[in-house]
Amino acid sequence: MTPRPAPTPPPAALRHPSGAFVVLEGGDGAGKSTQAGRLVAALRAEGHDVVRTREPGGTPLGERVRELVLDPAHGPVDPRTEALLFAAARAAHVEQLIRPALAAGRIVVCDRFADSSAAYQGAGRGLGVARVAELNAWATAGLVPDLTVLLDVRAATGRARRLERDGGAGDRLEAEPDGFHDTTRRAFLELAEREPGRYLVLDAARSAAELAGEIAAAVRARLAVEVAP
Ligand code: TYD
Repeated sequence: MTPRPAPTPPPAALRHPSGAFVVLEGGDGAGKSTQAGRLVAALRAEGHDVVRTREPGGTPLGERVRELVLDPAHGPVDPRTEALLFAAARAAHVEQLIRPALAAGRIVVCDRFADSSAAYQGAGRGLGVARVAELNAWATAGLVPDLTVLLDVRAATGRARRLERDGGAGDRLEAEPDGFHDTTRRAFLELAEREPGRYLVLDAARSAAELAGEIAAAVRARLAVEVAP
């Protein structure tokens, strides 16, 4: 009798029914979108079922809010209005896209999440990090990323990169002066310091290839822990 071949193990995503929620955070010009793209490609090449999304956005309503809240033509927007618009888009995103994807065992890779509101509206606009975090805990019904990758970028470096990318024709938030971006940077770092086990903080000035390698390794390590019986 010929021996039976060993059964093929199911792909990791199937063994991981609760999914994984990975968020990329950092200042403007940190290279989050590049890294999100690389991470998604690496995970898909390994057979994972991955959803790539971004904030503000991710749903038709969220994309409309994005247009509204980032349009420089609107001029100054009251900080509370700004915080509520981001939170409203996030609530829809979590309810309609992120939670269903996680429940289906998929890996969600999201460009920005609630920490962006804590840093930009809480610290940058002066509404208070704790208060904005609380608003967002309500908006997301308590959803917290499994891993947050913080690409730490100095304001001047971020500005130079944005200039290279699109001639500096930034949105309403990007157009803020360096002092604003320094404040948001410090807030991101403080959030990461409070929960070191849930954050991977990387210097965004390093090469894109090196960063991609470290991010993918950190996500794989996390998946391995969560998949283990
Ligand atoms: P982003 O999509 O990273 O910009 P880009 O289109 O250049 O990739 O983010 C858009 C801007 O919105 C960015 O300046 C940060 C800001 N923002 C907030 O102020 N609060 C938030 O909650 C979020 C998600 C973004």
